[in-house]
Amino acid sequence: MFSEEIEIGSQVTNPRANPKKRERTKSGVKTVKPFAVEGVSQRVAKYWHNRYTLFTRYDEGIKMDEEGWFSVTPEDIASRHAERSGGGTVIDCFSGVGGNAIQFAKMCFHVVAIDIDPKKIGFASNNAKIYGVEDYIDFIIGDFFQLAPFLKADVVFLAPPWGGPTYNTFENFTLDLLKPKDGYSIFQVAQRITPNIIMFLPRNVDLRQVEELSWLSSPPLNIEIEENYIGSYLKGITAYFGNTASRLPTLS
Ligand SMILES: C[S@@+](CC[C@H](N)C(=O)[O-])C[C@H]1O[C@@H](n2cnc3c(N)ncnc32)[C@H](O)[C@@H]1O
Repeated sequence: MFSEEIEIGSQVTNPRANPKKRERTKSGVKTVKPFAVEGVSQRVAKYWHNRYTLFTRYDEGIKMDEEGWFSVTPEDIASRHAERSGGGTVIDCFSGVGGNAIQFAKMCFHVVAIDIDPKKIGFASNNAKIYGVEDYIDFIIGDFFQLAPFLKADVVFLAPPWGGPTYNTFENFTLDLLKPKDGYSIFQVAQRITPNIIMFLPRNVDLRQVEELSWLSSPPLNIEIEENYIGSYLKGITAYFGNTASRLPTLS
């Protein structure tokens, strides 16, 4: 039972119109879970309860599908990524519903937001309008790996899929678990665009492997690794490379 359940009782004038919104309790009072009112499934309810950490302007009409709920970067973390990027043209190679692209655009950077899923780009475009930053973003529906040889940018941002909520079940999340290709392949493709790469990864990622990414370049890239918290919860790890980082790698 969720604490925010809304009692609708006799306000359900035409229950057949939307039977999924109803639930009969022992007392006979009909209730509806607020996330269900918005068409959000039980599977993503816990993300819905944290909706304002994902988008502070959620109530103004933010749209997401189920994968979007799982995978959007919380706003504070996305804002941090934007602050650290240094600006210019930023390519958000796996843009999803726009959590990161919006924050890059809020800092007046030119953003190229790519996603293979047309629905995600539709949601990202809607969400960017809510934040008033749509004019700073070029939205592209496409496969990043096919588009990469034609792209130029000052910074490349990588938030590839972590494989759904089960990422948390691994003690050591190795880079081969990233989707749609392993982390080394993704990084190598990005590196041909620019060495200034920001990569958002699971909190349980194998940090030694992340550090190894700098050595895919000669000379090795600067690297910096940051932990990203939401309150006291460690949500993810961000690896900054090239000009976005401040130190040389320590591995040899
Ligand atoms: C973790 S989500 C990105 C979330 C995003 N940073 C945000 O804050 O909304 C990863 C996205 O990568 C997209 N994707 C998967 N394979 C792709 C590919 N080959 N090219 C471009 N996008 C891809 C998925 O559709 C998904 O929306």
